[in-house]
Amino acid sequence: MTITFLLNGESVSLDRVPPTRTLLDWLREERRLTGTKEGCNEGDCGACTVIVTDAAGARALNACILFLPQLHGRAVRTVEGVSGPNGELHPVQQALIDHHGSQCGFCTPGIVMSLVAAHLSGRTDFDDVLAGNLCRCTGYAPIIRAARAAAREPVPDWMRADQSFLLPQISRGEGAARGAEPPMHARCPRNADELADIFAAHPGATLVAGATDVGLWVTKALRDIEPVIFLGGCDDLKSIEITDRTVRIGAMADMNAVRAAVADLHPSYAEMIRRFASEQVRGAATIGGNIANGSPIGDNPPALIALGATLHLRRGDERRSLPLEDFFIDYGKQDRRAGEFVEAVSFPRQPDRLRCYKLSKRFDQDISAVCGAFNIRVEDGRVAQARIAFGGMAAIPKRARAVEAALIERPWNQDTIHAALPAFAEDFAPISDMRASAGYRLGAAQAMLERCFAEDLGEPASVLEVQP
Ligand SMILES: Cc1cc2nc3c(=O)[nH]c(=O)nc-3n(C[C@H](O)[C@H](O)[C@H](O)COP(=O)(O)OP(=O)(O)OC[C@H]3O[C@@H](n4cnc5c(N)ncnc54)[C@H](O)[C@@H]3O)c2cc1C
Ligand code: FES
Ligand code: FES
Repeated sequence: MTITFLLNGESVSLDRVPPTRTLLDWLREERRLTGTKEGCNEGDCGACTVIVTDAAGARALNACILFLPQLHGRAVRTVEGVSGPNGELHPVQQALIDHHGSQCGFCTPGIVMSLVAAHLSGRTDFDDVLAGNLCRCTGYAPIIRAARAAAREPVPDWMRADQSFLLPQISRGEGAARGAEPPMHARCPRNADELADIFAAHPGATLVAGATDVGLWVTKALRDIEPVIFLGGCDDLKSIEITDRTVRIGAMADMNAVRAAVADLHPSYAEMIRRFASEQVRGAATIGGNIANGSPIGDNPPALIALGATLHLRRGDERRSLPLEDFFIDYGKQDRRAGEFVEAVSFPRQPDRLRCYKLSKRFDQDISAVCGAFNIRVEDGRVAQARIAFGGMAAIPKRARAVEAALIERPWNQDTIHAALPAFAEDFAPISDMRASAGYRLGAAQAMLERCFAEDLGEPASVLEVQP
């Protein structure tokens, strides 16, 4: 396997690297580019943030959970590669100095990279941009002041002149980065058809999409996951099609793309995705990976189930579709056969009634303790239809069918809501773990239904309404 990418503007070709070597380890150990730091090695702290550019644009990603083959055909910038040709500091770097945004400095390279990526695209939502960058000693006020100051400066000329900041100059070459050596070791199919052939022939291989789950199997669980199939080259699985009737999201659409696609259609879903991990994780994590991993606390399945989503699976040339809720059978068990992969998920266009509530210990960058999604249609004061689904309440993402039944055809009022609350215990017997106790989960899920009703009446119920 030959992997070719740009590193700080220079072309790099790597032969026979282990397919699960992370960019972070390679940068630090092989290239001695030690500005990129290792903090958690699991995508949580942002110390390892780099900028990766491809046809979709430049984005901040965590190098610790990026495998080298995922970079093929893309351009990588590290903190060593953002200053000017004569050592001029990038406006973000200068502003961090001017505003005392760095004390011990360990987090600073990662913060520089997140802010440089934001500066390139003109973003000023710095709370979101920096949610994945942990700073333990400076405190965020000086960092945000620096970000605001840098935002007033233009993108430096040297970045405009160097297109590798903006667009990668390497295209995916014929044969490059494709597994050549027997036995099958790692493959990088270029489209869904190639993926279907390879996976059907090697059903025991590990599929790697964004690697925000799989990366941790390697860096934390020290698992050997070879042979591997990298899906990043399958551009046809990244498309999102919105027609008058349907929204169809390719399995390889990342969370930032999904957030943008649903922003106008279902704003509450998009707002929940804003709290999905961090900017760096959302730029890598795919909707297909979030569904296929079968996690009971994945954030997309409850919203998609409430929207009436259909999952599209493929094995070889054989395709089948099923209601998303039927895909999740039991903990760690999904209705997916050997050699079969997720091709897309779709849901019908509909007037927006969706409300999503994610409850986690931290606002940003945290997995849900409970995640509830409510899609309730009220006609003439009565509940005509209800689709309600939860994560964190069972071994799988699960529909609340007893709660739905307790609402349907009843008047949409406080009495009906109260009468429906006991039905939660029919639907769910949640567990206690480090995120929440069983009792808390049950109570929180019930409170979400009450919140949904209150918001429908126009009562303020968002935690963001509490402003300092
Ligand atoms: C710091 C951090 C924070 C996180 N926060 C959240 C959060 O807030 N909410 C949340 O829901 N998740 C969160 N996650 C988990 C993770 O980001 C998501 O589950 C993500 O959507 C996984 O997608 P991926 O593309 O990275 O999948 P990968 O890690 O590449 O793969 C995950 C699994 O899916 C399989 N797979 C991938 N694509 C396909 C396909 N097309 N067909 C069949 N199988 C496939 C893989 O083989 C693997 O078993 C977090 C992870 C990290 C590291
Ligand atoms: S080292 Fe913490 S996110 Fe990579
Ligand atoms: S400056 Fe020390 S961790 Fe941020």
